[in-house]
Amino acid sequence: MQSIKRINTQKVHRACILFFALSFPVGSLASEITFPQQERLIHLLKHDCGSCHGLTLKGGLGPSLLADRLAGLPRELVVNTILYGRSGTPMPPWKTMLTRQEVEWLVDYLYSGEASDN
Ligand code: HEC
Repeated sequence: MQSIKRINTQKVHRACILFFALSFPVGSLASEITFPQQERLIHLLKHDCGSCHGLTLKGGLGPSLLADRLAGLPRELVVNTILYGRSGTPMPPWKTMLTRQEVEWLVDYLYSGEASDN
């Protein structure tokens, strides 16, 4: 009981500053997809997804992934299709290769229409 009263406020203060100093940069990195990750995802889109959806994503074995076509589909369906695949079709699950965060970035990228420009 006594020890609780004797907490050194200066130490606590210092610990708080250290906590915030460390957690902010780490926290912001964790919630963002870094530039090298983006490059990797765009490469994957073209070369891996592109092998079935077409190099320009206009469609092939799989349907077109261009923004105008995806616009008609719920975002969550698109995210889940990429993560879990579609059983009974050639669409494979990517959950062992990509995190949900990476898939969400990829889906935002597809919906943004930027993928159509490459
Ligand atoms: C081996 C071939 C293959 C690869 C590789 C592949 N897909 Fe597919 N994908 C398909 C097929 C086939 C379908 C259609 C499934 C169906 O009939 O519902 C599909 C469906 C989809 C759909 C749903 C589209 C819709 O109209 O409902 C999305 C989104 C998608 N793929 C994204 C991706 C992404 C992103 C990648 C790469 C990370 C990828 N796919 C890699 C074959 C593939």
